[in-house]
Amino acid sequence: MEIKETIPMKMLSNQAVRDWIKEQTLPFRTLMSYYKCAMMEIETKFNVLNEEFSLQHDRNPIETIKTRLKSPESIGEKLQRKDLPLTCDAVEKNINDVAGVRVICSFIDDVYLLADALLKQDDIKLIKKKDYIQNPKPEGYRSLHLIIEVPIFLAEEKRPMRVEIQLRTIAMDFWASLEHQLKYKKNIQHNQYVIEELKKCAEVNAELDRRMAEIKKTLNI
Ligand code: GTP
Ligand code: MG
Repeated sequence: MEIKETIPMKMLSNQAVRDWIKEQTLPFRTLMSYYKCAMMEIETKFNVLNEEFSLQHDRNPIETIKTRLKSPESIGEKLQRKDLPLTCDAVEKNINDVAGVRVICSFIDDVYLLADALLKQDDIKLIKKKDYIQNPKPEGYRSLHLIIEVPIFLAEEKRPMRVEIQLRTIAMDFWASLEHQLKYKKNIQHNQYVIEELKKCAEVNAELDRRMAEIKKTLNI
């Protein structure tokens, strides 16, 4: 299998990962399809919550839902970085973000409302919660991260699968998307000016979210 051009050079030079991808054994492809199913389950759960809420309140708490499956290249690279063997077992036990679901919400309240509603469901098991809204990263990144396990029902078995869920507002997503572009553009280290400007932008964003929430409160929505 030809490796895509978008993979950083560091990875291309890694023969072990390349060989592993080339093999792409059936168990690995099966595992990837399980992750895809788990991602679909979670996406549906959020769509159901959005539907219910929009009927009750006449507005949508969810702006968009994005899903992504981690590429074999990134999985291989992450296993190596963590000094783990290139096996399916190691993936399941150690890589929590093979299946990723990003939920972009309208208001901050919606982020917590949706997270709580999901976590209350009796088939969802919370593995880890990181609240980067209450505790933003030093660079300014904000989002609520949940690592959960959701069962998928196969013909012969019920299998719990891990999914990384990132919930954030439109403003937080705007910052994260642009910051990501700037970070991965060229391989230059950000200087102090860039770091501080990005952080200031994140704070302006957070202020915007707070003010929007205030308007919503005033209107009693
Ligand atoms: P990995 O980075 O995936 O190994 O996991 P981690 O355990 O460090 O988790 P963390 O919660 O810090 O980040 C997981 C994901 O959140 C990343 O893959 C990004 O999608 C997103 N993220 C975290 N920090 C930043 C940031 O500073 N900027 C942007 N744009 N995204 C971030
Ligand atoms: Mg990640």
